[in-house]
Amino acid sequence: MPVSIRHGKRAGDWPVAIVRAKAVVANMSVVDKVALATGIGWKNGPCVGNTPAVPSINYPGLCLQDSPTGVRFADLVSVFPAGINIAATFNRTMMRARGLAMGVEFKGKGVNVALGPDINIVRSPRAGRNWETFGADPYLSGEASFETVTGLQANGLQACVKHYINNEQETNRSSSSSNVDDRTTHEIYLHPFLKAVQAGVVAFMCSYNRVNGTYSCENEHVLNDLLKGELGFQGYVMTDWWASLDTFGTLAANKGLDMVMPGEASPSANHSYFGPALVNAVKTGQVPTSRLDDMATRILAAYYVQGQDGNDYPSVNFDSWTSSRGKHVDVQSDHKKLIRSIGAASTVLLKNAGSQLPLGDNVRSVAVVGSDAGPNPKGPNSCPGRGCDVGILAVGWGSGTANFPYLVDPLSAITAKANSINATVFSSLNDTDLGAAKNVSSGKDVAFVFITADSGEGYITVEGNPGDRNDLNAWHSGDELVKAVAGVNKNTVVVIHAVGAIIMEAWIDHPNVTGVIYAGLQGQEAGNSLVDILWGDINPSGRLPYTIAKSPSDHSADISNGYNVDYTEGLYIDYRWFDKSNIAPRFEFGYGLSYTSFSYSALAIVYLGGGLGNEPQAPTGPGSSLSSWLHDDWMTVTFELTNTGSVDGVEIPQLYIVPPPSANSPPKQLRNFDSVFLQKGESSLAKMYLSRYSFAVWKSIEHRWEVPRGKYGVWVGASSRDRRLYGEIDV
Ligand code: BGC
Repeated sequence: MPVSIRHGKRAGDWPVAIVRAKAVVANMSVVDKVALATGIGWKNGPCVGNTPAVPSINYPGLCLQDSPTGVRFADLVSVFPAGINIAATFNRTMMRARGLAMGVEFKGKGVNVALGPDINIVRSPRAGRNWETFGADPYLSGEASFETVTGLQANGLQACVKHYINNEQETNRSSSSSNVDDRTTHEIYLHPFLKAVQAGVVAFMCSYNRVNGTYSCENEHVLNDLLKGELGFQGYVMTDWWASLDTFGTLAANKGLDMVMPGEASPSANHSYFGPALVNAVKTGQVPTSRLDDMATRILAAYYVQGQDGNDYPSVNFDSWTSSRGKHVDVQSDHKKLIRSIGAASTVLLKNAGSQLPLGDNVRSVAVVGSDAGPNPKGPNSCPGRGCDVGILAVGWGSGTANFPYLVDPLSAITAKANSINATVFSSLNDTDLGAAKNVSSGKDVAFVFITADSGEGYITVEGNPGDRNDLNAWHSGDELVKAVAGVNKNTVVVIHAVGAIIMEAWIDHPNVTGVIYAGLQGQEAGNSLVDILWGDINPSGRLPYTIAKSPSDHSADISNGYNVDYTEGLYIDYRWFDKSNIAPRFEFGYGLSYTSFSYSALAIVYLGGGLGNEPQAPTGPGSSLSSWLHDDWMTVTFELTNTGSVDGVEIPQLYIVPPPSANSPPKQLRNFDSVFLQKGESSLAKMYLSRYSFAVWKSIEHRWEVPRGKYGVWVGASSRDRRLYGEIDV
């Protein structure tokens, strides 16, 4: 791995940092304490968020900067594969390595707080920011959150998980209310945030939307009861940028808000909810001094626990708004190697009829069709916020982006490969010129058709899509392009660069569509990552982090256009819904092919002992994250994996728990997975742990986790529908 962990896990350092922060806060003036909590205003500093220096305590202020894919508004940085792609690797080592490399880049630029990762859940497949997230399953998202935060923070950076909570669509995000029942909150949407807290994350960003009627940034239940109470979060909560608050915004402090960003109450306001208003509220007793002290303590403890007061923490050396003011520090190191390998490891092979892939070196003629195969003629950063879908799509749009140092397009990478094996490439990059597409494809050994679907943050509209996608179809008449090429070439391989699921019913069963590759959003090395897969230098092992349906209406949830975004489907999102309703997906959650094959055998479930723990639980309380008994190792599941094919490769075994009827839970839920490399012919023992929490359901009335008694299925498979082993256990 390109970077190393210098300080390791820091959660244990909190008590020391808090004692220190309290001692400092005890001697601070009200004005200085409020300064810690108040941004200096949009574009008034070099970063997207800035807090002022407080000379009395030798505190330089904070630089808070997007994004979850790289350092935004800076040069000489890397653009990493998107969150949805790192989720598709199902590989914790890569998740951590990506976080580490990003953390090094943020720190190298002098950023104090990285505004990421985005750990909302893919509820509706059309939601604009799905691509920033870790997919549709809370367990997978939770593992990715844990590893990403651990990596990001390992060298002293502060990570800020967002958008807390239930910001699962862009439409009306600043006014709508996400209405979610308590059990669903706990079992689906809160879990990734819990894992971030367990990783020691120091900051949270509360979301624009309301939760059950109250804005999340002034929602006492969400901030105080859940986050600071149940999850034991000891860091600080900042608003999303100008996040709305109701009339008495200053009093959001009393509800658990710790910092306003970027400072002013709205883009057009010249007052802040904090700043002088908070000073006044403390002086008049509307906000208790103890609350202000707590806010300041949380912000300072986060700074200390990450060691940012040490001499070696760089100061900000770039400027988001006036690039020439920066020092142009190159922080890329050799991260492009990691980016290329994550790009390949996150590529999902969906179809490989007749094992046409990987291609051999005997290929002589290659057709490359579609605008997504080529570069954006104006350059990869020519559209502000990446708000266009021109040329290779390697990230979505909005604040989740960064400036590409370069972007390897597929046509260049395929051409380079072709040149090395004396093959000739014929290309047509026009999406609607079907005649040209057919011309170049006809008679070639293989024809690649590139199609896309884009989405992003709601402040930009692209081709009529206002953040959330209008539909789940391929853009630029992609279906027509595929059909045209498949009409003339018997070896048509479709490559999809997209933010999430698309509907592919128009051509998926076409006999000439022999290959389908879901490349997602691979970041700056996209073309190279793809070639690694096409010619088999890397054996694909990506798995879908969401379900691809046959029809949009097969999903249980969609974007809501009204004030109320009712999560009436409850626990039943994505595969949980398809399973419950017996709907056949096109490609299920966890699905992905390999160039080799694997067999599973010898399932053994070993109960390690200990009671059910259904006795009244100790409060989870500050610092405890979740009652410890809940996540102790309780059971091991072992089985043998064998690579039975002819090439080396990685298998992603997935463990799902099938609950007894008394649990009233989805038919099965992912509770562990692994990424196992095996040479051809090799076998190894896979071992996975389960805790009581793996079996627990949240009892809203009793207000605790409980393991329902009964017979559970332990379902081990190669996807959420490809069961390979099954065992049962009574608990
Ligand atoms: C986004 C956040 C982002 C912030 C700062 C907001 O619009 O929702 O994700 O971190 O802007 O750019």
